[in-house]
Amino acid sequence: MRTEAEAEALRAALAWQIAMGAEEAILPAPQRRLAAPEAPAPAPRPPAAAPLIRPAAPARPATPAGEEAAALAAGAESLEALREAMARFTGSPLRETATHLVFADGVPGAPVMVIGEAPGAEEDRQGKPFVGASGQLLDRMFASIGLARAENLYISNILPFRPPGNRTPTDAEIALFLPFVLRHVQLAAPRLLVLAGGVAAKGLLGAREGITRLRGRWHPVSLPSGKVLRALPTLHPAYLLRNPISKRDAWADLLLLRRELDGG
Ligand code: URA
Repeated sequence: MRTEAEAEALRAALAWQIAMGAEEAILPAPQRRLAAPEAPAPAPRPPAAAPLIRPAAPARPATPAGEEAAALAAGAESLEALREAMARFTGSPLRETATHLVFADGVPGAPVMVIGEAPGAEEDRQGKPFVGASGQLLDRMFASIGLARAENLYISNILPFRPPGNRTPTDAEIALFLPFVLRHVQLAAPRLLVLAGGVAAKGLLGAREGITRLRGRWHPVSLPSGKVLRALPTLHPAYLLRNPISKRDAWADLLLLRRELDGG
C-alpha cells in the first residue's frame, strides 16, 4: 500500500515525463531485453579533479565592492549570518531596484543544492528563489527523481537581487557576488551541485563554453576551504519552457544526478 506522499511523487514523475513528450520507455542505447542479465560494468569514474579545476570567476582587478563582498562572505559563520551580510552589502546598485533580497529556499544540508541565475519578478515579490513559472517546472523536474525543497533539496541563485527588467546578469555582477555564492555552498554543505543555466555554469565553473556543451557531465568546483564538489550543469527551466524539445536533455541530466545519489 503506497502512502499519499509516494503516490504524489509518482504522479509528479508521470506529469514531468508527459510534459517531456515521453511516450515510450526508451534509453539512448538499444537494450537487449531478452538476453540473460549481465553484471553491470562499473561506471567509469571521472579522472582526479585537480588538473581540471578552473578558477570559479574570470580573474578581475580587485575593486572596493569586490573586497567588501569577499570580506563579508568570509566573515559569515552560518547561513543566517551570510544572509545578514548580504543584506548589509552596499557594493551593488541592484539592491536599490530590487524589492527583496532572495537568499535561498529548501533544506540547508540537503544532499543537492541547485544554483540558478537571478530572481525574476515573482521571486523578487516573495523573496524566495524559483517560485514563478520556471520554479514550478523546476519543482516538477526534481520531484520526478524524488527531490523536493520541503525535504531534500536546497535552492539559491548566483545573484540575490533581481536585475531590472530581468536582464541577464553581467560578468561583473556574476564575479561580484561569487564570494557570497561560494561561501553559501560551503555553509549549506551539499553533496552535489546542480547549476541551472549558463549564468550559474559561467559563475561556478569559470567556463567560456555555452551550457549546451557543458551540461550532461560532472565538473569540479573548488570552494575557498579547499574542498572540491562535483557540479552538474543543466538547462535552465525557463529555457525548457521556451524549448520543450530540450526537456529530453534535462531528463538525461536528472537521471545522471539520481544515479550519482544512488551511488553511481
Ligand atoms: N530563474 C532563476 O534563475 N532563479 C530564480 O529564482 C527564478 C528564475
